[in-house]
Amino acid sequence: MFITFEGIDFCGKSTQVELLKKYFEEKGKSVKIIREPGGTEISEKIRDILLDKKNNKMFMETELLLFSASRAQLVREKIIPYLEKGNVVISDRFHDSSTAYQGFGRGLPIDSVLSIHSLAIGNTIPALTFIIDIPIEVAIKRKAEKTHQELDRIEVSSNDFFEKVRNGYLTLAEKDKRFKVIDGTQSIETIHRIIINFIEEFEHN
Ligand code: ADP
Ligand code: TYD
Repeated sequence: MFITFEGIDFCGKSTQVELLKKYFEEKGKSVKIIREPGGTEISEKIRDILLDKKNNKMFMETELLLFSASRAQLVREKIIPYLEKGNVVISDRFHDSSTAYQGFGRGLPIDSVLSIHSLAIGNTIPALTFIIDIPIEVAIKRKAEKTHQELDRIEVSSNDFFEKVRNGYLTLAEKDKRFKVIDGTQSIETIHRIIINFIEEFEHN
């Protein structure tokens, strides 16, 4: 089973990925966690280029292709082999991040973005994608509390950009039943329970 988490920065994805990992492990399943961009030696190098604030001359086309290149490597080197061995694979972001950030956020044509996904990931499409939805104001508040870590090149983007990304996710969610939108302003425990319910419902169908 391949599950992905999506949403704007600070929506609470990583927190839920960890809780879901524990849930599966308690049920005796082996779980592999992936982070995007990154997850392989080559993909981590691409991640450094993408998130380095010094790279302020990067064009949006370059950005999309680098995220996709990192993902193409990750799919073939890790995700497909993990799934073939029967692991549950949970990814903190995947191709929908590029549709939302580079497509809806930066304004690249959605059709072009989707055709690049088709080359990069082929038919390795998640069974379930949780979009944790929070208003931009909540993201800003959580961002302000994140004093211990420096913000990366994309996290420093404008609120207007994140508004477009958020709306992009909500537009995507209307088009495919794979997406489950969850109100991310609820408590961590409530969100976790909603996610478990979706997974149990999926497993019974
Ligand atoms: P992401 O991986 O989406 O950037 P994180 O899981 O790292 O998000 O969470 C971002 C911040 O918000 C962290 O400080 C985390 O503790 C906090 N957080 C996560 N989920 C919730 C929630 N449901 N309510 C309040 N704060 C949350
Ligand atoms: P990361 O630290 O992994 O994200 P998060 O803080 O959400 O855990 O940084 C990834 C950044 O890159 C984040 O701002 C989202 C952005 N991104 C894209 O713009 N396109 C993509 O395809 C992916 C995977 C991420």
